[in-house]
Amino acid sequence: MIGTGYVGLVSGACFADFGHHVTCVDKDASKIEALHRGVMPIYEPGLDDLVAANVKAGRLTFTTDLKKPVAEADAVFIAVGTPSRRGDGHADLSYVYAAAKEIAGALDGFTVVVTKSTVPVGTGDEVERIIRETNPKADCAVVSNPEFLREGAAIRDFKHPDRIVVGTEDERAKESMNELYRPLYLNQAPILVTGRRTAELIKYAANAFLATKITFINEVADLCERVGADVQQVARGIGLDNRIGGKFLHAGPGYGGSCFPKDTLALIKTGQDYDAPIRIVETVAAVNDTRKRAMARKVSAALGGDIRGKTIAVLGLTFKPNTDDMRDAPSINIVTALNDMGAKVKAYDPIGMEQAKSVLTGVTYCEDAYSCAQGADALVIVTEWEQFRALDLARLKSAMAKPVVVDLRNVYRPDEMAKYGFSYSSVGRATKDR
Ligand SMILES: NC(=O)c1ccc[n+]([C@@H]2O[C@H](COP(=O)([O-])OP(=O)(O)OC[C@H]3O[C@@H](n4cnc5c(N)ncnc54)[C@H](O)[C@@H]3O)[C@@H](O)[C@H]2O)c1
Repeated sequence: MIGTGYVGLVSGACFADFGHHVTCVDKDASKIEALHRGVMPIYEPGLDDLVAANVKAGRLTFTTDLKKPVAEADAVFIAVGTPSRRGDGHADLSYVYAAAKEIAGALDGFTVVVTKSTVPVGTGDEVERIIRETNPKADCAVVSNPEFLREGAAIRDFKHPDRIVVGTEDERAKESMNELYRPLYLNQAPILVTGRRTAELIKYAANAFLATKITFINEVADLCERVGADVQQVARGIGLDNRIGGKFLHAGPGYGGSCFPKDTLALIKTGQDYDAPIRIVETVAAVNDTRKRAMARKVSAALGGDIRGKTIAVLGLTFKPNTDDMRDAPSINIVTALNDMGAKVKAYDPIGMEQAKSVLTGVTYCEDAYSCAQGADALVIVTEWEQFRALDLARLKSAMAKPVVVDLRNVYRPDEMAKYGFSYSSVGRATKDR
């Protein structure tokens, strides 16, 4: 497994748990050194136990040098990052291509090289070209096998996927991939074997569709606020229709995270390059982009339109609960906008504060939700961590300078908040101020 990040480490540990022998490789020596000490380089529920059990069983090892593990492997997975390229939004494939080149030099015997990173259509062709150019004698098949796990529920998702997508036309590769994923057939996960380009596109189409669903309900939420309707009931009303489905219909501050923003952008670029622009996704990305900063204006409006010198408490910084991942988190845009408007921002996140500190300066980091609320003129719920769902509302109110709550995840009920004397606003729901 080349790349031991959110995807590589989880996939490696799960494959080991299936009974395979896995070596996780990473260039980042500090990650590998931490793993040797049993310390996880990322926060993912259940991962530490899964890793420890498989290390103990002798099926999972870690190294910074790919030569030996690649030479010995039946399958080599590329799970390195594919961030947005600075300046133009195309996927930055330099890590994938560098890994392909290194792998090529170490291949020995028939090996399946599997791209698990999310990569644009045609990347598999280029990986194959690089391998053939670097090592013309290599006996290998290059396969696309995109990953659909969600951070925060990654182990469950990996072990109980809705589907496994394998893009290859090579019979030997199909056999190897079947063997690798065989334990999952027992869980009845459908395996979809397609062409390599099709598999690459499936991943982007899936993420773009989910981002579209979120953005759709966010715009419906804005309309709900204008007309006095309730977006949660609208979502339920449409989600019960099987053709629509209830998931990804939670109105909020706009999508963020390590995948949707960069993957929608990369798909847009691919569409434009091939003269088949996907305008609906172009609009989704543009709408989502402006939404996050608009959430700061919502906070300002809740305080009468001027927050200069006011203290704002922010609960939740990671892009979603149960992860420490701050990549493209909506909190970054929201906190930055609040700072731009002259507010003093205090913040608390149960797991993500260390990561947050490197991307968000000018923030006073607090020890818990209540110390964060202390003396605040408004409290904003940005990420719906479990521990923010049942706050002691009386205690919260007495800690705050003003009882103003802006709930960007619709965690609380307007009538309940009114009962406690809060001035409460949320997303797409009628507000009753007191
Ligand atoms: N994070 C998710 O939830 C998720 C879900 C599905 C798919 N993906 C995709 O999976 C890929 C990896 O994402 P991630 O979140 O795990 O990234 P990550 O940044 O957490 O991990 C990538 C790792 O690869 C290492 N690396 C880079 N080049 C290397 C090389 N040549 N040799 C060895 N190691 C190298 C880096 O040091 C890093 O630790 C991306 O393409 C992403 O889009 C991510």
